Amino acid sequence: MRRDVAIVGAGYVGLPLAQVFAEAGQGVVLLDLDADRVAAINKGESYIEDVPSDALASLVEQGLVSATTDYDAVREADAILIALPTPLSPNREPDLSIVLGAVRMLARRLRPGHLVILESTTYPGTTREEVQPLLEESGLRAGSDFFLAFSPERVDPGRSDWTTKTTPKIVGGITAACTERACELYSRALDTVIPVSTPEAAELTKLLENIFRSVNIALVNELAQLCDRMGVDVWEVVEAAATKPFGFMSFQPGPGLGGHCLPVDPFYLSWKAREFDFYTEFIELAGKVNENMPYFCLEKITRALNSRERSVRGSKVHLLGVAYKADVGDLRESPALKLIELLRAEGANVSYHDPHVPELPEYGLSSADPDGTLEAADCVAIVTAHSGIDYDRLVERARIVVDFRNATGKNGTANGRVWKL
Ligand SMILES: NC(=O)c1ccc[n+]([C@@H]2O[C@H](COP(=O)([O-])OP(=O)(O)OC[C@H]3O[C@@H](n4cnc5c(N)ncnc54)[C@H](O)[C@@H]3O)[C@@H](O)[C@H]2O)c1
Repeated sequence: MRRDVAIVGAGYVGLPLAQVFAEAGQGVVLLDLDADRVAAINKGESYIEDVPSDALASLVEQGLVSATTDYDAVREADAILIALPTPLSPNREPDLSIVLGAVRMLARRLRPGHLVILESTTYPGTTREEVQPLLEESGLRAGSDFFLAFSPERVDPGRSDWTTKTTPKIVGGITAACTERACELYSRALDTVIPVSTPEAAELTKLLENIFRSVNIALVNELAQLCDRMGVDVWEVVEAAATKPFGFMSFQPGPGLGGHCLPVDPFYLSWKAREFDFYTEFIELAGKVNENMPYFCLEKITRALNSRERSVRGSKVHLLGVAYKADVGDLRESPALKLIELLRAEGANVSYHDPHVPELPEYGLSSADPDGTLEAADCVAIVTAHSGIDYDRLVERARIVVDFRNATGKNGTANGRVWKL
């Protein structure tokens, strides 16, 4: 089997990337430590919503995609793309241990001509200050013996209008030759490739994008709390403002940030900024406002129950949607999990329904059948508005609905039993 590209990490980023390269005729080997994932890929079974199993199965059958747990597989590939997690440590500092552990493994297998590209989101300087020295322990030099670049992944799981293939790809190499090699690789499979002058510029581009979202979401979340006190419908205000054809971009309030990116990535930059005696106030403030949202949601549920002379303690609270966003099953940093903890701490009896999340083993919960559960609940809280759910019927059946996503729309408020964020 031909192996043009090795992708380290077969997750939300790595698997769609493999599909795109393979569909462009490139031979791809995916390297992942999770043996179950590797076995699933080799059987043509996808576990990522954006990659349909039939498409994957066809690529596996044609010999264009395979997976392995063996790092030696990278030896035969021309290019190695790293799509590994970049989490925060328990004290909220960048934790590059997964990426750097993998880079050490790659260094031992590096050969002249190899192109290595880091795709994981990280702070400016990671590629040059952390990855390059480890790879050069091989005795090979970046820019002459092998090529090294950073190219951020911008995929938005669950989105169909912009995909891994159609979203422009930013590329910054350690040298001009590195940038050129990396651009050539991506041009084989992606529609648009945009070179920038350095890996640092590419690293910071991705962070700017995520910080921009985090700050704007925090702005509407703060406004939602003020609107709550003023008795103004924040959803109506955002919708009305969005009619301005210029100078305004619409962001929706909600129960808080989730996913691997927005609650995590901005703090990679605020950590790095401190090295330069610089404090990134917007990042910290946005983090504070967004992290407070599950507490505000608890308050809203408490007030809704109170209006029916019920306390949170002993009430049955049913959460609709626990994934961090609509139409995916991704639970990482989901504000619903925080809300479950807060509700339980107040003595609520929590159940949930989520068509994408059958089990929450850490909470001892399974997705409950809505039939019967909705009527029995003292309060139904819409935390994530998956499509395919009949929200009008929900409003008819539930005793109280607390809607953090405006899923019930205007019908909801008219009904009088709906409390919106
Ligand atoms: N998920 C997104 O929406 C998204 C979007 C843009 C950028 N990113 C960034 O891309 C990077 C990867 O994120 P993801 O969402 O694809 O992660 P993920 O958790 O979905 O996938 C990572 C994969 O790496 C594997 N893995 C872990 N350690 C390994 C190792 N040492 N060697 C080989 N495999 C290993 C895991 O088993 C997993 O399959 C992160 O830096 C993230 O910030 C993610």
